[in-house]
Amino acid sequence: MEFTLSDEQRQLQQLARDFTRKEITPIAAEYDQKEETPWQVVEKAFEVGLLNVGIPEHAGGIGLGMLDECIVGEELAYGCMGIFTVLMASELGITPILVGGTEEQQKRFLGPLTEKAGLAAFALSEPNNGSDAAAMGTTAVLDGDEWVINGTKMWISNGGLAEVTVVFATTDRQGGHKATVALVVPKDAPGFTYNKIKHKMGQRASLTSELVFENVRVPRENQLGGLGDGFKIAMKTLDKTRIPVAAGSVGIARRALDESVKYSKEREAFGKPISNFQAIQFKLAEMAMGIETGRLMYQKAAWLVDQGQPHGYESAIAKAYCSEMAFNAANEAIQVHGGYGYVGEYPVEKLLRDSKLNQIYEGTNEIQRVVISRQLLK
Ligand code: CAA
Repeated sequence: MEFTLSDEQRQLQQLARDFTRKEITPIAAEYDQKEETPWQVVEKAFEVGLLNVGIPEHAGGIGLGMLDECIVGEELAYGCMGIFTVLMASELGITPILVGGTEEQQKRFLGPLTEKAGLAAFALSEPNNGSDAAAMGTTAVLDGDEWVINGTKMWISNGGLAEVTVVFATTDRQGGHKATVALVVPKDAPGFTYNKIKHKMGQRASLTSELVFENVRVPRENQLGGLGDGFKIAMKTLDKTRIPVAAGSVGIARRALDESVKYSKEREAFGKPISNFQAIQFKLAEMAMGIETGRLMYQKAAWLVDQGQPHGYESAIAKAYCSEMAFNAANEAIQVHGGYGYVGEYPVEKLLRDSKLNQIYEGTNEIQRVVISRQLLK
């Protein structure tokens, strides 16, 4: 058993940490307020090798493993969870192409993302269904050698901004998961439009969209896996990509702790810094306990992925545990900051708003508990 990162992983961590300090942290509040995606960060991340890190070498990428991706993710989220989502939702869009695509498809769809800054997206949820993912209403009908897609997807990170979007659709609404198919749709496909979802509570630097498909045609070669494989490709993807969400949550909690330590040493009450009071000390200790245990859990889940071992159960535990831990840490950080924590002058109120989404996206934490308990009762 090994509890230290390799030299390469430490270098990667340092690269991501420096990148976050220089490119993300200084602009996080501004882009949160503007509700805009800082495209320059995407471009700079591409330049330094922190974008689309999961693309394998045979498709032109650097093919980092899941643990590597999580190490990067924890650092990015320390600066801004919204910007984390811009970069990491691209890995979410890439993953089904790795899970269900042929080598030729991986080169065709992912190769361009290694040549210039560009994103991928993953489109599963719909206006009327999220947790019951197999009950999707977006249809795909074969017309000769083309799939014709109609329907609406909802809550899609990078939706409309991404060069490629993996869209999950059904060939028969009564057919359940066995009638689902995964199709890659390019950004410029005629009939494919999007609407930005505004006024989100947090993660406002990340574009979240409604996607509309009106007779969108893609060649049959854009189908990942076989007919009926769509749902399983989505599930296998999420079993992996929930782990970076856990890592990002640890990044949020670490920021909450650092801000709380700093503030509690500066702020005085009753004639001494508030860090002298046990009420504050215990909050800091509680945050540290959550961070340490959460990190171990996401690292274990990521390690299992990298070893090619089953990981759905551990991924669900990591995602649910870490996102709740991050929310609690952000909440306590606000408490440590008192009134100042409640306003935008200090970064902690943003941590709370941002962390809330981690309990919802990539499968609600209730769904994670479904996954965990099904495994226990099998
Ligand atoms: N891996 C591989 N196969 C799986 C699987 C997995 N993790 N989970 C289920 N399957 C297979 C089952 O074995 C079964 O196959 P057979 O019929 O061949 O036996 C089939 O899939 C159906 O499985 P279930 O009957 O268990 O499926 P279900 O309908 O009960 O759903 C669920 C299970 C866990 C609730 C699932 O629907 C789920 O995870 N829902 C949440 C969806 C989700 O996470 N959405 C997030 C969207 S991404 C996002 O947030 C967007 C963004 O931009 C950030």
